[in-house]
Amino acid sequence: MIGGRLGKAIVDHAAGGNSTCHAGYRSGWSGPTGAFRDANHAGHSSVTGYPKPRPIPEAGPLAQPKSLDQVGLRAELTRQAIPPDNPQMPEKIVLSEKLFFDGRLSADGTVACSTCHDPARAFTDGRPTSIGIGGVGQRNAPIILNALYNKAQFWDGRAKTLEEQAALPIVNPIEMGQPSMHAAVSRIVAIEEYQQAFRQVFGGAPNGPDLVRAIASYERMQVSFDSPFDHFIAGDQNAIDDSAKRSWDLFNTKARRNKCHALSEEERDVTTFSDNKFHNIGIGIIRHNVVGLAHQAEQLIDSGHAEAVDSAAVGTDFSAAI
Ligand code: HEC
Repeated sequence: MIGGRLGKAIVDHAAGGNSTCHAGYRSGWSGPTGAFRDANHAGHSSVTGYPKPRPIPEAGPLAQPKSLDQVGLRAELTRQAIPPDNPQMPEKIVLSEKLFFDGRLSADGTVACSTCHDPARAFTDGRPTSIGIGGVGQRNAPIILNALYNKAQFWDGRAKTLEEQAALPIVNPIEMGQPSMHAAVSRIVAIEEYQQAFRQVFGGAPNGPDLVRAIASYERMQVSFDSPFDHFIAGDQNAIDDSAKRSWDLFNTKARRNKCHALSEEERDVTTFSDNKFHNIGIGIIRHNVVGLAHQAEQLIDSGHAEAVDSAAVGTDFSAAI
């Protein structure tokens, strides 16, 4: 990692267990070294036998929307990451922060987005794979910081936008377990405070598309720059120490990290340390019948059921680590 840049850990392996992954900072703080170190915190449900999700974290100071005036932040790129049909507005961001931390979006009230994307853990859960309503999933929770710049969401890029992404965990049986988006919206409709806030922000009662718009607008305020490295790139030679300068040099020469991490010869761009492409990084797959799984995956994708694909990705052998 260069300069301890929060949310931009440069890790070459996909902690999610995929051999093809987005290059870049996506592995965040969690990784194989933390394997089940917090299994005790997870606890066990005596009813289901599943490990229980952690208590929903408080929306403390680290949860606050971040300043857009940070060294290293590219204003134009940030503007481009905001879709025309979901403009940022202060009231919307207040509403969306509430939703991000609200367990009432889940089937039994115990899981919020923040359960697995905890601001105190750089918006991850610090686990190898996440625990939700349905127990332990098969995938690692990526950070949300700077996710607004991703060209596609999820380890496999199956959602194009933050809005499209946000709809899936709500109905994923392992994560928040709602039987349908309609069921989640009904919960929100029943809460007077949300009724008022949605009316104020969107001009009507809560509904699915506005619910995910709201959640995405909170995520778009989670920008992370202003690190010593950002100051160094901006011209402050003393912002990082000599050892970091040497490793920055290695990054761009012998170590060839720049090849995938957005710093190709053509474009020296350190905004997100990602080229937003998928790369085969050569992780071996031993246990699986890859060809068989690939056929099944193809069929599932061809069915066009985004929720079924999401369920398979998070909850089945499609993602199981070697
Ligand atoms: C039970 C844990 C859990 C909950 C609850 C959860 N997530 Fe996630 N989140 C994950 C995991 C695991 C992934 C990666 C899944 C994959 O790639 O297939 C993920 C991926 C994401 C990504 C993609 C980031 C990237 O870099 O690709 C975003 C954005 C995100 N979640 C936001 C949310 C929002 C918004 C909510 C609430 C509506 C939410 N998550 C609820 C575990 C969770």
